[in-house]
Amino acid sequence: MPHRHAGRAHDHHSSDDPGALIRWPRRYDLLVGVALAGRGRRLRGYLADVLGVDPGDRVLDVGCGTGTLALVLAGRAGPQGSVTGVDASEEMVAAARAKARGKNVPVEFRVAPAQELPFADDSFDAVVTSLMIHHLPEADRLPAVREQLRVLHPGGRLLIAEFQAPEGPIGSKVTGHLFGHAMADNNLDEVAALTSAAGALDVGRHPSGVGWLGLVTGTKPAA
Ligand SMILES: C[S@@+](CC[C@H](N)C(=O)[O-])C[C@H]1O[C@@H](n2cnc3c(N)ncnc32)[C@H](O)[C@@H]1O
Repeated sequence: MPHRHAGRAHDHHSSDDPGALIRWPRRYDLLVGVALAGRGRRLRGYLADVLGVDPGDRVLDVGCGTGTLALVLAGRAGPQGSVTGVDASEEMVAAARAKARGKNVPVEFRVAPAQELPFADDSFDAVVTSLMIHHLPEADRLPAVREQLRVLHPGGRLLIAEFQAPEGPIGSKVTGHLFGHAMADNNLDEVAALTSAAGALDVGRHPSGVGWLGLVTGTKPAA
């Protein structure tokens, strides 16, 4: 998704750079609605299937945005489970909390950076991150995936859903023009390589049913 650089005026990548936060939740939800063109509900259910969320699971959504996926996952995890969504954007977390209000599902949202998750090792049965990795400075992407594996229980499942840039120079140019180079240059093979390099096992790629979204799965090695 298109993004605005957060926090700092510069645009270079450095380790103290938080990444490109989104600060306009309402517009974001509208944009996602248009991009998914009625396929959102089915896609999120499918992501829950691929992640393998069962009743009682503890699930983390990193870069949860306005919380739409986290709420679906919370419905699957049920009253014995829990879903935690984190995002470094206060505006997105506020919107996610508002969306969850009055819904009887076990979900909570916190402001936290993907680079330093505020959770103990082995805290979750499953971790998902959707359209977030390409928002990070390149130097932070591998450490962020390591961080996701750190908080996973041994044997726990990781799902990374990422933008799949259109192939060919024209698609790439149009994407770059509309959404910036982070999206135009996003490469699912690199995301899969990153996931292996971070230490995940059984790394695999899957279609999502939505042309511009690819899925990478892996598991945390058993202790
Ligand atoms: C394209 S949105 C994806 C939101 C949601 N996961 C979805 O699939 O619709 C990317 C999200 O990542 C968040 N983000 C960017 N950098 C981050 C960071 N360093 N730590 C946590 N969240 C971050 C943004 O604020 C934004 O909400």
